[in-house]
Amino acid sequence: MLEQFVVQGGQPLKGSIAISGAKNAALKMACAALLTDDWLILDNTPVLSDMVIICQILEELGAEINWKDNQLSIRVKNLKTHRARYDLVRKMRASFVLLGPMLARFGRAEISLPGGCSLGVRPVDIHLNGLRAMGANIELEDGYVIATGQLHGAEIMLHCPSVTGTENLVMAATLAKGRTILHNVAKEPEIIDLCNCLIKMGAKISGHGTDTIIIDGVDNLQGTTHRIIPDRLETITYAIANILTHGHIYLTNTEAWCFDALTSCFPEVKIHHTDFGFLAEGPVMNTVNLTTAPYPGLATDLQAQMMVLATQIPGTSYITEAVFENRMMHVPELCRMGADITVEDIQGTNRATIHGGVPLSGAPVMATDLRASVSLVLAGLCAKGQTTISRIYHLDRGYHALDEKLNACGANIDRVKQEAA
Ligand code: EPZ
Repeated sequence: MLEQFVVQGGQPLKGSIAISGAKNAALKMACAALLTDDWLILDNTPVLSDMVIICQILEELGAEINWKDNQLSIRVKNLKTHRARYDLVRKMRASFVLLGPMLARFGRAEISLPGGCSLGVRPVDIHLNGLRAMGANIELEDGYVIATGQLHGAEIMLHCPSVTGTENLVMAATLAKGRTILHNVAKEPEIIDLCNCLIKMGAKISGHGTDTIIIDGVDNLQGTTHRIIPDRLETITYAIANILTHGHIYLTNTEAWCFDALTSCFPEVKIHHTDFGFLAEGPVMNTVNLTTAPYPGLATDLQAQMMVLATQIPGTSYITEAVFENRMMHVPELCRMGADITVEDIQGTNRATIHGGVPLSGAPVMATDLRASVSLVLAGLCAKGQTTISRIYHLDRGYHALDEKLNACGANIDRVKQEAA
């Protein structure tokens, strides 16, 4: 049954919100469990629908899974099948990161091609060409990637710093014969956290967080216990909610570095570290001109949330989406709420011009991708009147109990069954 949020906006929020572990680190560490026959124990794991899906896939493959609060334990002693099914993989692209570790440990992997998504084509050439360079035989059959072979080290240049491409190749290289050197890799904090977890499992990795990662293959990896880093995307989402509602929301279970993207884009924002947690405060009066880019550039996953903030800054701001070809689906929905935003194609990237300082007013809107969805919640919180957000299943993928966390701070969000269309 589809659900929707009914948001009554306009009131300042106050209270505290505990930030969850990073979704985009946790998903890949779950896949890393394939690299060992021992227990991999992940603390601070976010309880999200995406995590449920990756665990479902792992269980079908033959993994033992134990959840205890936010501790996820996984053991893959052996496989029941080498095939990760399309109907599960298509729900969550990150499951394509099962490919590298499964191939490295078992010499065979059959992973459904993830297909495109609303953000764009989402190719996987970096993943497949990298594994070919490491000796894998890659066949495409009925929409599945069938990868076989014993992997050996290779020197590989990624044509763009793909996050999951980097993760698939790093994990594959941990058990390959010899040295693998990956150039032009992704440098996100979640990549560093994954590599730190792999090193605790016995992997020989250096250079993570720089442009070049070096991995010396070992014969096998052991289990370990690893605490997942805080989710910087969730941290900044709630920090923006606090600024937009002129509230007093203290964020706990997070760290100062998680606010870096916010304070570098909006230098007027002050982050107070108090005994109750981190408090992000405005006001924000200076317009911005932002462009998304691979880390350490502005995360594309923060673009929609920052656009809502820009709608409340008097004057003209610009936000350019330069990572994905179709990540402005929140714009028409924000315009329905009274935002004055136009989008133009500038040499293949989408640039939004935001005439800010216009108060938002509630309206029925539709969620699309995960981050666009949460931007509509942010808009609803600061809009006058009622906003109804449909297709909120996108939200549950990346934000644990978002309505409960915000309502505990005085928001007025009702999760209701979606009226029949
Ligand atoms: C990861 O996706 C994240 N997902 C995305 O977060 C995030 O938006 C993205 O990185 C960019 O930061 C997870 O970590 C689960 P990419 P990923 O491969 O790895 C091109 C969210 O909201 N490319 O870094 O799939 C591609 O076309 C999600 O949490 C190739 O050309 O993204 C794109 O333009 C949404 N060939 C660019 O790289 C490839 O083989 C970035 O894609 C792979 C990618």
